[in-house]
Amino acid sequence: MAPPSVTGFVWIGLLAAGVIAQQGELITDDTYFYGQVPATYPTPQIEDNGPWGEAVSRARALVSEMTLDEKVLLTGGGPTTTGCNGFIPGIERLGFPGLCLQDAGQGLRNTDYVSSFPAGMHVGASWNKRLAHARASALGKEARTKGVNVLLGPAIGPLGRVVRGGRNWEAFSIDPYLTGRLVYETVMGVQANGVITSTKHLVAQEQETHRRPTLEGPFQEAVSSNVDDKTMHELYLWPFYDAVRAGTGNVMCSYQRINNTYGCQNSAAQNGLLKGQLGFQASNAGLDVAMPSGALFWAGNLTQAVNNGSVALERLDDMVTRTLASWFHMGQDQDYPTPGYGIPRSLDTPHEVVDARSKCAKPVLFQGAVEGHVLVKNQNNALPLKSEEMKLISIFGYAAPAPKVNNILGFWRYGAQATNGTVARLGFGGPNNLTAPPIAVNGSIIGGGGSGATSQSLFSSPYDALVAQAYEDDTTLFYDFESGTPAVNPTSDACIIFGNVWASEGYDRVSLQDEYTDNLINHVAANCSNTIVVFQNAGTRLVDAFADHPNVTAIIFAHLGGQDGSKALVSLLYGKSVFSGKLPYTVAHAEADYGRAVGPDVTRYADGGRFSRYPQSDFTEGVFVDYRHFDAENIEPRYEFGFGLSYTTFDYNNLDISITDGDHDDLPSGPVVEGGQADLWDELVTVTADITNTGDFEGMEVAQLYLGIPGENTPVRQLRGFEKPLIAPGETVNVEFTLTRRDLSSWDVVAQKWRLQSGEYTVYVGRSSRDLPLQSTFTI
Ligand SMILES: *[C@@H]1O[C@H](CO)[C@@H](O)[C@H](O)[C@H]1NC(C)=O
Ligand SMILES: *[C@@H]1O[C@H](CO)[C@@H](O)[C@H](O)[C@H]1NC(C)=O
Ligand SMILES: *[C@@H]1O[C@H](CO)[C@@H](O)[C@H](O)[C@H]1NC(C)=O
Ligand SMILES: *[C@@H]1O[C@H](CO)[C@@H](O)[C@H](O)[C@H]1NC(C)=O
Ligand SMILES: *[C@@H]1O[C@H](CO)[C@@H](O)[C@H](O)[C@H]1NC(C)=O
Ligand SMILES: *[C@@H]1O[C@H](CO)[C@@H](O)[C@H](O)[C@H]1NC(C)=O
Ligand SMILES: *[C@@H]1O[C@H](CO)[C@@H](O)[C@H](O)[C@H]1NC(C)=O
Ligand SMILES: *[C@@H]1O[C@H](CO)[C@@H](O)[C@H](O)[C@H]1NC(C)=O
Repeated sequence: MAPPSVTGFVWIGLLAAGVIAQQGELITDDTYFYGQVPATYPTPQIEDNGPWGEAVSRARALVSEMTLDEKVLLTGGGPTTTGCNGFIPGIERLGFPGLCLQDAGQGLRNTDYVSSFPAGMHVGASWNKRLAHARASALGKEARTKGVNVLLGPAIGPLGRVVRGGRNWEAFSIDPYLTGRLVYETVMGVQANGVITSTKHLVAQEQETHRRPTLEGPFQEAVSSNVDDKTMHELYLWPFYDAVRAGTGNVMCSYQRINNTYGCQNSAAQNGLLKGQLGFQASNAGLDVAMPSGALFWAGNLTQAVNNGSVALERLDDMVTRTLASWFHMGQDQDYPTPGYGIPRSLDTPHEVVDARSKCAKPVLFQGAVEGHVLVKNQNNALPLKSEEMKLISIFGYAAPAPKVNNILGFWRYGAQATNGTVARLGFGGPNNLTAPPIAVNGSIIGGGGSGATSQSLFSSPYDALVAQAYEDDTTLFYDFESGTPAVNPTSDACIIFGNVWASEGYDRVSLQDEYTDNLINHVAANCSNTIVVFQNAGTRLVDAFADHPNVTAIIFAHLGGQDGSKALVSLLYGKSVFSGKLPYTVAHAEADYGRAVGPDVTRYADGGRFSRYPQSDFTEGVFVDYRHFDAENIEPRYEFGFGLSYTTFDYNNLDISITDGDHDDLPSGPVVEGGQADLWDELVTVTADITNTGDFEGMEVAQLYLGIPGENTPVRQLRGFEKPLIAPGETVNVEFTLTRRDLSSWDVVAQKWRLQSGEYTVYVGRSSRDLPLQSTFTI
């Protein structure tokens, strides 16, 4: 859902130079922070030429026929008879039917007859561009069938800076390049159906704690993400370039403050970065449109403000034009289902069945679930399991069975059937100091909680999927889903333990591991020499408490696979599918290894510190998050970024680098188009390598390219390419990576442009961020 917490107008404030409080003095007035955001006005107008030209002129024509009240109506959510999360009212006399806005990234939320897709982090773990596209395309098709005009996703912020962040699972990866490539495919795939994506949240919304001002008790503003310009571009803004380049029809701003100005009012972020540098043309939820009830919130004021001249009519026209241009540009004026047609207001009263699911989505749901599983330990080839050897499997853990309830209403709306739904519900609008249990004790999870939750029509739990397999093989299944210290039959051929990691919108996780599950695993492992551990994890999970136990033979991060997650898992366990996922984040030995950003920044009012009314989050680690941090500090991770095992093995050979002819000037000189200066996307270097499957299984390998960019205070290496070929045993495949001008550049804060560096670049190609058999250099 879009931030409803727009606490003022974008066009006022920010301008006055602040009164600087004395060092240490309690800050009680927002004016203290004035001037931290470079005032960036006016808001660039949407352009008449280029790919949006026709849509813009049609939108302008429509706007010119509107009264002031009608225009204002279109700047915010209004009442609706549908169940859409947000609804922009129609203007019947002009043939505009309105717009239905609906959550979100893992399938449509809080409605019936829809599919549950793998979550963002699962897609990140698959490192598969084609699959990301296919998933998005299927998801978009369902949205269209239901009369959804704007899908409130994909999420690419949070990126994952705060390792315990409550919403990291909604987005793809802590790495901006991986996220950028996957969000590009996702926007393209969804929008190919004519459905507008609302890429969110712009920008630096990295923690849930203090994400909003307090609604009760002593007043605190939302946290301010204080991000320097270089870090902003090279990390947090980076994937938004890709989303805008893909033509995202909408961008949602963030709840929190950036440099102490709310994201939705931050002229530097909205006008400077998004509409200026990135060339964003379309409409901007929270700025051009306030959701879900913006019209109620500001309508009267906005009309007044236009009437008294404090908001230019031009600005209002541009807001409305941007919204309508998206509608025209996506072709929603032609043969599009009535907004919200398949999203009934209440699911427990009679309503028409609008079944959005389709047969063509089935292979995508399944393969999507398969490829996001990451195998990190497989001792003595414990996996794949051999059917004929499995006389007895013992299954343990609270996460193996389905939750007791999968039914409309209740906590299902928040994806919280398996955990304390009260907390998950509160997460939407409640206090800033929620804590929730680290695990969902009442069953298997296939998504996290909040607006990114999924509303599965059906799904199989790990237990269900194992039963189906056991029937075929005549395997005995003993199980105990309740006890933390279950009895173990010593004749078990395998013991499979299912744990999970719960996370939800509205609060951050309390830890990266939990003792209950760790103890359960150690208990079973003490009496079972083939103990296989599976986590359905909505975020990073540490494993040092048991990973070296000799009886723990396999560890799988199953992430959040959606409705087919457990079918996929069993297919992988038995070798019918082959693991090909890789970690889209680093798994450390200990929390402290992540550095300062492992948890959210917390400011308690009662502490009475200087900033106790104005929580601050200083991103002082700069770009050094996740593997950039581990590499810079030379810290050994448990499992590095990009790591994941397969049933087969791959060799890397014959690295070749070629530099294209053409423009190698330090700075780009192209016009700003959607996605930034056009020549940022020129391909300047091509790298190829041979990959040979040296094992016995046909399998996919995620070949990764990392680049050491010359310059001071630069990460040792950064992901700048990945390809995922399917390779038969004995076969060799040549993969090609292309490096664009942006890939080779660092952000120059003085020039305010991406600058190619002079000096030697190092290219690394291999299996993970630390297993890089091929290495070479080039100079531009
Ligand atoms: C935030 O402040 C930093 C300086 O501290 C500045 O470089 C940057 O441009 C500002 N960004 C925004 C979006 O206000
Ligand atoms: C959480 O904050 C509310 C006010 O928003 C306060 O009433 C409550 O006591 C706080 N709870 C904790 C555990 O800090
Ligand atoms: C104008 O805004 C204020 C708060 O920002 C709100 O209390 C008031 O109801 C609004 N007026 C109208 C007419 O909407
Ligand atoms: C114009 O109206 C807006 C919204 O009600 C108000 O905030 C502003 O102070 C008014 N300005 C003038 C000059 O009256
Ligand atoms: C769920 O969370 C709420 C709010 O924190 C708490 O009051 C309640 O006791 C919890 N219920 C269970 C079953 O843990
Ligand atoms: C788990 O289920 C039991 C039994 O239905 C219930 O009493 C308990 O409150 C649930 N716990 C949570 C955290 O939802
Ligand atoms: C292992 O099995 C033995 C024999 O049943 C039992 O006494 C012991 O408690 C078990 N160990 C654990 C850690 O469960
Ligand atoms: C591994 O499991 C066997 C029983 O299968 C047990 O005898 C042994 O003690 C276990 N090893 C450890 C280190 O717990």
